[in-house]
Amino acid sequence: MSKYCIAVIEGDGIGREVVPEGIRVLEAVGRRFDIDFSWQHFNWSCESYPKTGRMMPDDGLVQLRPFDAIYLGAVGYPGVPDHVSLWGLLIPIRRAFQQYVNLRPARLLRGINSPLKSADHERIDFCIVRENNEGEYSEIGGRLYRDTDAEMATQEAVFTRRGCDRVMRYAFELARARGRHVTSATKSNGIIHTMPFWDERFAQMAREFPDVRVDRYHIDILTAHFVSHPDWFDVVVASNLFGDILSDLGAAVVGSIGLVPSANLNPERAYPSMFEPVHGSAPDIAGKGVANPVAQIRSGAMMLQHLGEPKAAEAVESACESVLEKSSIRTPDIGGRANTRELGEAIAHEISLVARV
Ligand SMILES: NC(=O)c1ccc[n+]([C@@H]2O[C@H](COP(=O)([O-])OP(=O)(O)OC[C@H]3O[C@@H](n4cnc5c(N)ncnc54)[C@H](O)[C@@H]3O)[C@@H](O)[C@H]2O)c1
Repeated sequence: MSKYCIAVIEGDGIGREVVPEGIRVLEAVGRRFDIDFSWQHFNWSCESYPKTGRMMPDDGLVQLRPFDAIYLGAVGYPGVPDHVSLWGLLIPIRRAFQQYVNLRPARLLRGINSPLKSADHERIDFCIVRENNEGEYSEIGGRLYRDTDAEMATQEAVFTRRGCDRVMRYAFELARARGRHVTSATKSNGIIHTMPFWDERFAQMAREFPDVRVDRYHIDILTAHFVSHPDWFDVVVASNLFGDILSDLGAAVVGSIGLVPSANLNPERAYPSMFEPVHGSAPDIAGKGVANPVAQIRSGAMMLQHLGEPKAAEAVESACESVLEKSSIRTPDIGGRANTRELGEAIAHEISLVARV
């Protein structure tokens, strides 16, 4: 029997509703595949912030370090400014643990309608590889002359050769295992220093992978192509900001942001990786019990894959798709009336039907 110790941060809003369903499904798959999970919950959130003045304790990263993986819901809620919650919890974990790849698959599942009329289930299946440690999300900058007419703000983007190369190499290696095609998201016409540098590093990396087809688009037309020709893409590598935006667009193309998972990966496995849905805490539906748990559950499948349990990961993916295709149990975001728990239970039940290995 394999045994994994998982740190769980439900976080805020619907994170508290979807994480229990993710754990329900992972427990179910563990029973079929002889995997034992030990869950340790960390109650770090915007709710605890006013009491402690911190999104996580001073030694929060030290506490998380020994775990095999981190399973996160969502961070951020009205009452705490978003930049405080994000920079107090999520971003420090991604950076300290060198989770420099944010892998965000966008696949149109059977049983789900895309808002695109021409959508073909076989052909909308791509992965966004978002740089997760540097780029436009940097602390370098500042404010001057506050509360005067001369008030100003600056923000520096940081692109390093090491940072670009390692995420691009990951994207090319992933493409080798998939459709042998990498698209780079750029904006080197308007952004005069960092984006031409990004293009140079991409061209250099492409030379190491002559068997992988490459193309590149400026981010503006790339967003249009995501809508008009989503079947053109296999692996899309992008900077932190561009990748963040593209992944919500990818989610919309495949039917709902409530369906798409993500992994914050430290490919060298020197530190724990973190698995969370693409979506946030959804304050508009929090507490109603109607959030779609599939993104959280599929993030659990990505965690299993990373932990070296590919069959169990595949069982979770198949169970999600099977329930969405064959049953009428679906949450309101995908046209149904079921609640979060009902959909989670249906997927866990589907897994219980898989032959024990
Ligand atoms: N990684 C993260 O933890 C993360 C990611 C994005 C946003 N956030 C935070 O979440 C908060 C809300 O952000 P937002 O509103 O921009 O984005 P959001 O993803 O929380 O919500 C956007 C829209 O999608 C819907 N939605 C999201 N997840 C859903 C689900 N599982 N099922 C059904 N509908 C779902 C919401 O109801 C909302 O209408 C902010 O504080 C933001 O900073 C956190």
